[in-house]
Amino acid sequence: MTDLPVIDPAQLRLSVAPMMDWTDSHCRVFHRLIAPHARLYSEMVHANAVIHGDRARLLAMDPVEHPVALQLGGSEPELLAQAARIGAETGFDEINLNCGCPSDRVQAGRFGACLMREPELVAESVAAMVAACATLDRHVPVTVKCRLGVDDDHDYDRFRAFIDRIADAGCAMFIVHARNAWLQGLSPKENREVPPLRYDWAYRLKRERPDLQIIVNGGIADADEATEHLQHTDGAMLGRAAYHDPYLLHRLDVAWFGGDLRSRAELLRALRPYVEAQLARGVFLKHITRHLLGLFAGERGGRAFRQILSEGAHKPGADWSLVEQAIAVTESFAHA
Ligand SMILES: Cc1cc2nc3c(=O)[nH]c(=O)nc-3n(C[C@H](O)[C@H](O)[C@H](O)COP(=O)(O)O)c2cc1C
Repeated sequence: MTDLPVIDPAQLRLSVAPMMDWTDSHCRVFHRLIAPHARLYSEMVHANAVIHGDRARLLAMDPVEHPVALQLGGSEPELLAQAARIGAETGFDEINLNCGCPSDRVQAGRFGACLMREPELVAESVAAMVAACATLDRHVPVTVKCRLGVDDDHDYDRFRAFIDRIADAGCAMFIVHARNAWLQGLSPKENREVPPLRYDWAYRLKRERPDLQIIVNGGIADADEATEHLQHTDGAMLGRAAYHDPYLLHRLDVAWFGGDLRSRAELLRALRPYVEAQLARGVFLKHITRHLLGLFAGERGGRAFRQILSEGAHKPGADWSLVEQAIAVTESFAHA
């Protein structure tokens, strides 16, 4: 097993899942503001894109985001190593390898979830990435996000053997999306819903490999469920629930780490300097507000809030006043 330094356990309790098209830098800045202790993850970026693509855009990251991980896709150890090094030099605190994405595009490129069937290749990739990050002046851990297996793999021992092999290569933290990926016949969306969840595999893994840091992910819908997972693992990673109801992140952060519960409007207003700085750089308001739409989810006025932002943010010249207008509508409901 690896004897590399572990990640500060407090930083692992709460995290927001990597989500393509969703967890861009604007989204992460917003999540950081509402959940100061959460660990944040980028969208998956392919190693080739990191090496040859528009890095300023693909690796965009604001200093407030820390601790923040870059998630890489790929299966060529040499390329992954180069990309990991670039990510670490850019300032990311962790490099995470995607072994869980089931999309056709990803399968054609032989990465993502199909890597669950290639433990040797993953181990080689992880070892190369660890070596590439080892000479930096700070420790940047290489971690893996995986499923339980693919298709009809239902053998816990096989899953644990996969983890053991990768751990031997230098990975001490695993995010377990606690269901299989079905590589045929399901869309990526269905692959997040149809294969049954088996949290007990993640719990058992933590019991049997207590030195590894194990984060459980998949289908965590509310604060009680998230809190229950902490009894069995090192942390809970929330994806869709965090995105669609970001206030849940705030409530979890306060419940688990302390501090005062702030109102939705107060949290949002704290984003104003960031939004105005981005607008001044030429960013369109809609690129930021699309991540805010769920803030008042389930609240009176939540629908009007969403509507004002979605209808107004793409208009030329849209600025912070639109956000104030949306907040004012929710406040009028509260006082009605
Ligand atoms: C829109 C969307 C994009 C996603 N993109 C990624 C990705 O880039 N990398 C990854 O490892 N998982 C990705 N996922 C999966 C999530 O990280 C997470 O494992 C999954 O949604 C289950 O967690 P949840 O039930 O809390 O949402 C994505 C999920 C969604 C909804």
